[in-house]
Amino acid sequence: MTAPRPTSQLVLDLFAGTEPQLREALEVRESVFIREQGIDPDIEIDEFDAICWHALAYLDGEPVGTARLIMEDRFTARIGRVAVLAEARGSGVGKALMRLVEDYARREGITRLVLDAQVQVIPFYEHLAYTAEGEVFLDAGILHRRMTRML
Ligand SMILES: CC(C)(COP(=O)(O)OP(=O)(O)OC[C@H]1O[C@@H](n2cnc3c(N)ncnc32)[C@H](O)[C@@H]1OP(=O)(O)O)[C@@H](O)C(=O)NCCC(=O)NCCS
Repeated sequence: MTAPRPTSQLVLDLFAGTEPQLREALEVRESVFIREQGIDPDIEIDEFDAICWHALAYLDGEPVGTARLIMEDRFTARIGRVAVLAEARGSGVGKALMRLVEDYARREGITRLVLDAQVQVIPFYEHLAYTAEGEVFLDAGILHRRMTRML
């Protein structure tokens, strides 16, 4: 009889862009946005990475997902670069990352979250209480739509 497989352990971390874990977050983004989606590496990493907050999800010790949070003004923050490795999708990692950055934003007094969603994942964000607004637009060659959520 084979022993039951242990349940995967999900660990979340939130850190500033000056911390060494940024390298692990960028590796996840490189896999998802550059290798999988073909986004230009020159625009994938930008000037915000060093000055914003980053969330990382580790599954059994391996980094599998990330997101970032940029404070725009006293009450508004922008979520971006939400990415989960293909093999780790569909098991709640993306949702856990979103809840982590939302909880942090709420604690900081943020009342409005904005993000630019790739159109094919609008249902993922709608599921998390974000509302699409405005026209579809092209960014990095991919169709996007602005979404917001009041906290
Ligand atoms: C979008 C993405 C981050 C979702 O991550 P994930 O870990 O697979 O999502 P989760 O498993 O946490 O899903 C959370 C919920 O959203 C739903 N969901 C996830 N992706 C969905 C999609 N594409 N369409 C509709 N619902 C979706 C899940 O069914 C789940 O519902 P539940 O809470 O009732 O179980 C991931 O698919 C990804 O990295 N995609 C490629 C990169 C990308 O497009 N990023 C977004 C840039 S704007």
